[in-house]
Amino acid sequence: MVRLIGKKTKIAVFISGNGSNLKNLIKVSKKKKSNFQISLVLSSKKNAKGLIFAKRNKIITKIFYYKNPLKEDKKILKTLKINDIKFICLAGFMKILSKNFIQKFAGSIINIHPSLLPKYKGLNTHNRVLNKNEKYSGCTVHFVNSKLDSGEIILQKKVKILKTDTSISLQKRILKQEHILYPKALQKILS
Ligand code: GRF
Repeated sequence: MVRLIGKKTKIAVFISGNGSNLKNLIKVSKKKKSNFQISLVLSSKKNAKGLIFAKRNKIITKIFYYKNPLKEDKKILKTLKINDIKFICLAGFMKILSKNFIQKFAGSIINIHPSLLPKYKGLNTHNRVLNKNEKYSGCTVHFVNSKLDSGEIILQKKVKILKTDTSISLQKRILKQEHILYPKALQKILS
């Protein structure tokens, strides 16, 4: 738990792509009642769309390809320290953080995943859910540990699967719920 009375917790968001969760977190962070601020955005891709929102909001952005975690960990940790980052949110970050990195930020990294974990860890979630004829899917915010999508669950939201659903329609409906769930989870752990 991170408790900083009367102060907004400085957060870094790690992305690799679209950045709709990042965009939403930025929006929520600007509300008076919000207990966090997005101070840094790290991307593993230089043309990630999410970087545009970050720059538009005058948030510091850095690119880390994370091809060689051993070398890059040091640089990332330094950047986080310089920017006084206390908490990390992964939002569509497509790289696996090293054990060393996770240990250094133990209990202070969370992720959002588009399934009802522990079911459907990993990629290609919506297709796999539809192929199994599930009645429900959803999204999960969880702590990050060294095993993929396996850390302690913070919050989940169930989404009913429609007979007409394709992976795209399901993804869209779940993403809408992600945008509600992620700031809610963050607000909860930082309170
Ligand atoms: C989301 O579905 C999230 O659950 C998953 O990656 C996607 C990122 O979407 N980890 P966006 O980049 O935030 O739009």
